[in-house]
Amino acid sequence: MIETWGCQMNAHDSEVLAGLLEQMGYLATENENDADVVLLNTCCIREKAENKVFGRLGNLKKLKANNPELILGVCGCMVQRPEMADKIKKRMPHMDLIFGTHNIHQLPDLITEAKQNSTARVKVWDREGKIVEDLPMRRAAGIKAFVNIMYGCNNFCTYCIVPHVRGRERSRHVADIITEIEHLVQQGYVEVMLLGQNVNSYGKDLDNNIDFAGLLKKVNDILGLQRIRFMTSHPRDFTDKLIDSLANCGKVCEHYHLPIQAGSTAILKRMNRGYTKGEYLDLVKQIRQKVPNASITTDIIVGFPGETDADFEDTMDILQRVQFDGAYTFIYSPRPGTPAADMAEQVPPDQKKERFQRLLKLQNSITEEKHLQLLRSTQEVLFEGTSKNDEHIMSGRTRSNKLVHVPADKSVIGKFYLVNITKAQMFSVSGELLEEI
Ligand code: SAH
Ligand code: SF4
Ligand code: F3S
Repeated sequence: MIETWGCQMNAHDSEVLAGLLEQMGYLATENENDADVVLLNTCCIREKAENKVFGRLGNLKKLKANNPELILGVCGCMVQRPEMADKIKKRMPHMDLIFGTHNIHQLPDLITEAKQNSTARVKVWDREGKIVEDLPMRRAAGIKAFVNIMYGCNNFCTYCIVPHVRGRERSRHVADIITEIEHLVQQGYVEVMLLGQNVNSYGKDLDNNIDFAGLLKKVNDILGLQRIRFMTSHPRDFTDKLIDSLANCGKVCEHYHLPIQAGSTAILKRMNRGYTKGEYLDLVKQIRQKVPNASITTDIIVGFPGETDADFEDTMDILQRVQFDGAYTFIYSPRPGTPAADMAEQVPPDQKKERFQRLLKLQNSITEEKHLQLLRSTQEVLFEGTSKNDEHIMSGRTRSNKLVHVPADKSVIGKFYLVNITKAQMFSVSGELLEEI
């Protein structure tokens, strides 16, 4: 059993962990009482995420007491934090394996060793090794697949722990990426999500003169592939050339996740984001000029150290002006070891919460309004599965990444249909099937 916290990067690492375990002869289970191995793949982006992991590690103790043969492991970003592996080893002596994001490929050896003797095994490289290609993966069934195009991050935004736990930027070779996607298409996948912390700096570390725009063109040429998405792109590296290639690559969906983080130029500077409020607004304008239907979503942090009322109003203002299709909003959480954690003028918790509520309320109303705008339109929907609550309702996504629910039977799954949108809710829209495409 593998439990995953955090972002798509971690979700995809879990697919590799599952692949490695399967190669050793294990079968997946979702029931911890059936499991021979339990792995927690952790996230440390905010303090809350870490506290939850500690809670969970604590209650696994009982499971181990009932089944002493059980192998318990903890891995992922949290383990990469300085001194964290030692802390876990001391506080959670029932853990058998503690390994970092750079050591995933060593899981089979770690398990073999753990079976031979019962002392805890700790394997945390503090630096990235070479990219290990050809690891087995057990992907989520069927329709869309995550494909890593690069690992790590060089940006060092002053609030962020990711560069500290995921290492420097390393791009995979084009040929490896293309071959992987071609295999996926042969297996029936029709959509890929290209993954990286900053996908538009793809290729900067390679010597064959390819950038993200060039990679997109090559992926776009793969026969049989229908949809391409990518995540995450950094506003600073979103060049005109990239916008042109988005407009010209027919399979690249018109949805761009473009984290702004804050509206105030002064705060953006202290965050080390490398763009101003004005530059971000210009970028959105350029994108919408060349891709008129572009759906743009974002990430926002409230309560960064030194954020004044006026700074916060800049964030509210940019939300109004851009009209994002959606936003992930976060309360700033100081991460030990990052520069922002040591900045004076930390915003008091009550103020952070109050700003957060105002922001959420505004964005929710914008998100809903965006859904209302879809009423009576015809959308191309790729059906991905049954809806969570009702097996007679199928759910899929538009190219702009809107969640769509439609009464239908399971035969639509994996297929593209035109759908007439008849109802708008806060987090999704509903509609009726027109015809298969
Ligand atoms: N690589 C992506 C996102 C990585 S983390 C990017 O650059 O945009 C996902 C989001 O978590 C970030 O966009 C940011 O909004 C949020 N985040 C990161 N560190 C945080 C912190 N210390 N406190 C609160 N939110 C944070
Ligand atoms: Fe973190 Fe910034 Fe890198 Fe994104 S770009 S992972 S926010 S350091
Ligand atoms: Fe992702 Fe969390 Fe790591 S957001 S990169 S899993 S710290």
